[in-house]
Amino acid sequence: MTTVGFIGSGMIGSTVARLSVAAGHDVVISNSRGPDTLKELVGELGPRARAATAEDAAEAGDIVLVAIPLKAYRSVPVRPLVDKTVIDANNYYVARDGQIAALDEGHLTSSELLQQHLRSSLVVKAFNNIYFRHLASLARSAGAADRSYLPIAGDDAQAKAAVTAFLDSIGYGAVDAGPLAEGWRQQPGEPVYGTPYGPFEDERGRPASAGTIRAALAAAGR
Ligand SMILES: NC(=O)c1ccc[n+]([C@@H]2O[C@H](COP(=O)([O-])OP(=O)(O)OC[C@H]3O[C@@H](n4cnc5c(N)ncnc54)[C@H](OP(=O)(O)O)[C@@H]3O)[C@@H](O)[C@H]2O)c1
Repeated sequence: MTTVGFIGSGMIGSTVARLSVAAGHDVVISNSRGPDTLKELVGELGPRARAATAEDAAEAGDIVLVAIPLKAYRSVPVRPLVDKTVIDANNYYVARDGQIAALDEGHLTSSELLQQHLRSSLVVKAFNNIYFRHLASLARSAGAADRSYLPIAGDDAQAKAAVTAFLDSIGYGAVDAGPLAEGWRQQPGEPVYGTPYGPFEDERGRPASAGTIRAALAAAGR
């Protein structure tokens, strides 16, 4: 059993929190407005959940998910995340996040930007390529024929192993997409982004095998 900390508890954060609780993990959720605004979600998640400040959620988590609008990445607390595995679900959308030159010029992936902010954390890019409703409905136990896979990118092998084990526990396999610099392959607009799990209109989604995810990563092009 792991304690999962959440920086951001919106569509993607709350979905991962539900899957985590169902898998027997404890969760500590946070948002920008404060713990009092998360009472309803904590009530739904049950006794394994509590709400906290972002700082406290970061401190409490063995693994911490960052799922916020990318433009707020500088507000992610640095000190409590030192030496921790941090899962980055964020995507860069100019309409929401404004223009970020380093990303526009293609020098960095969005997860490398978070890694620069969290210098001493072990950032792994995951969950960014799947619609939250598909994430909720496609979770399957290990060994299920229709299990779905998610790409993960990161620079630290141990952190990637920890994320792989976490994904396995909540119902997903992992496909290693390489280091954070290769994370562009799973960013918006690339073949592995959303498409393998089916159209948004079908909330059940479509299972995506490891082979499907590998092929989509390989088909990525700048
Ligand atoms: N929605 C999806 O299907 C999906 C799928 C994959 C990846 N993503 C990516 O994941 C990220 C989150 O998306 P979402 O759809 O979950 O967004 P969302 O529903 O709008 O939720 C965002 C969450 O982040 C919190 N937040 C905002 N600024 C914060 C800060 N400075 N510190 C702590 N928490 C903060 C918000 O809290 P308040 O409500 O209190 O402001 C809210 O809980 C985005 O980068 C998105 O592109 C989304």
